Amino acid sequence: MKLKQFGDFQTPLDLARQILQGLGPVGPQWDRVLEPTCGRGNFIRGLLQLDSPPREIIGIEMQDSYYQEAQSLASSSVQIIHGDIFQLNLARALAWKTTGPLLVIGNPPWVTNAEIGSIGGDNLPRKKNIKRLRGIEAIMGPSNFDLAEFIWIKLIQELAVEQATIALLCKTSVVRNLLSYAQQARWPIGKIKIRALDAKKWFGASVGACLLSLQTGMPRANYHAQVLEPLDASARRFTIGFCNGHLVSDQKAYQTVSFLEGASPFQWRQGIKHDAAAILELTRKDGEWFNGKGDRVEVEEEFIFPLLKGSDVQSFHGQPSLPRAVIVPQKEIGQNTRVLQEQAPRLWHYLSDYAGIFQKRKSSIYNNKPPFSIFGVGNYSFSPYKVIVSGLHKSPRFIAVGPVGSKPVFCDDTCYLLPCHSSLQAAVIAALLNHSLAQTFLQSIIFRDAKRPITKTVLRRINLLELARRIPFEDVRETIGSTLSILETSKEKEYPKIINLIEALELHHQTTQPSLFGP
Ligand SMILES: C[S@@+](CC[C@H](N)C(=O)[O-])C[C@H]1O[C@@H](n2cnc3c(N)ncnc32)[C@H](O)[C@@H]1O
Repeated sequence: MKLKQFGDFQTPLDLARQILQGLGPVGPQWDRVLEPTCGRGNFIRGLLQLDSPPREIIGIEMQDSYYQEAQSLASSSVQIIHGDIFQLNLARALAWKTTGPLLVIGNPPWVTNAEIGSIGGDNLPRKKNIKRLRGIEAIMGPSNFDLAEFIWIKLIQELAVEQATIALLCKTSVVRNLLSYAQQARWPIGKIKIRALDAKKWFGASVGACLLSLQTGMPRANYHAQVLEPLDASARRFTIGFCNGHLVSDQKAYQTVSFLEGASPFQWRQGIKHDAAAILELTRKDGEWFNGKGDRVEVEEEFIFPLLKGSDVQSFHGQPSLPRAVIVPQKEIGQNTRVLQEQAPRLWHYLSDYAGIFQKRKSSIYNNKPPFSIFGVGNYSFSPYKVIVSGLHKSPRFIAVGPVGSKPVFCDDTCYLLPCHSSLQAAVIAALLNHSLAQTFLQSIIFRDAKRPITKTVLRRINLLELARRIPFEDVRETIGSTLSILETSKEKEYPKIINLIEALELHHQTTQPSLFGP
């Protein structure tokens, strides 16, 4: 627990040297260098071994053993501070002996506040220190932020008076968050450069990582990131930057499909959230339901709904029955559950038996809510037809689903759904979104190394009407037909009928297009 909360990935000396070489001669460009979380001091070692080292170096480190190790490098030109960077004001607390241009180099912690919270750690900025920073609200909105993001913001703000160059190793997720905050808060930065890095090779970490460098205190801000040669030949090349005010992952591909940027006419929703999978998610064995604890579950059937999880969505091919189900005790958020005592006594009894598990749910969203509350539920969840996509997969597959066993299908909170008023609407929307045009657009805006590449924000950006206009109907006719043949009841299954329906739709599509998607 102790180490994890420090996001500890010490930079190998070879890598530190390679990064310093890439910056060009250090001494002539920068008199002073700050290593804000110096660890055992490999960047400082690398600096001291240069032909032209800087005149002065300050390193900060919190962990005692690393501080002691880095302290062995201390001299009249190198100071190591044993302290917590979150407690120091970098504009005032550093006792520089010299003046002149400043370089900040290093590799801040690789850990999120949520990970620190989950291990009971306390290596977090204090609330009052957070509030002091301008634009910080932007990152305090999301409940999960990386400590490196906070350190970047602190450096950018506190060093804004000096036009410092900051070059830090960090996860690519940190880069995109930072660029978004910077643009929103109009921070005075520029000369942003990115060099991809093979994090597996250097740190044994399976995440996208890079060296991000930028300049603070720029009179004219510029948020375009210039993507340079990767630091290693094995690193995955990526281009990241702002196009039309949006951060995109592949500027070149984006430009070919940018006409799809817009607003979805529909509201995408996240699937059901309950944080009690062992109790609420069921699997069927020999015609009976079992929970995650292996206990047989016998509750009122009307509260049990077929369930698709993210991985099911990727491999779904219109199964007539599903092996998984979810218990849905509420029809809308906050609905009174005590009525279940009367209305569904077996369900109430079942849930009460596991009350302890519900009470232990960590997320504060469950505080002051009726017992056994769930989220991601509303009228839309009960819509018989839906388009569903997994948020966790890099190559999103959109599926059209209809009722299974005459019940609407639910998806878990790793997925997003669009409620549809008919099987036709679901089939058309899924076919359009699976078309190569939509997929190219998605691939150009999503970040494949993100834990959740597809989000509501991403989905909201697809202009479905424009997509429908651009895709020749021939391209989707077959898929729509076969999807409908799966979704519809046997009476409507005959293919010719469906083709007629689609052709009628096409006519409709050409004349009064927007209503194709309306009720
Ligand atoms: C990813 S490691 C990198 C260390 C060093 N910069 C390098 O490149 O080898 C992050 C370092 O940040 C230190 N650290 C974590 N939280 C800190 C804090 N609040 N103040 C100062 N140092 C901290 C850790 O102890 C660890 O040495």
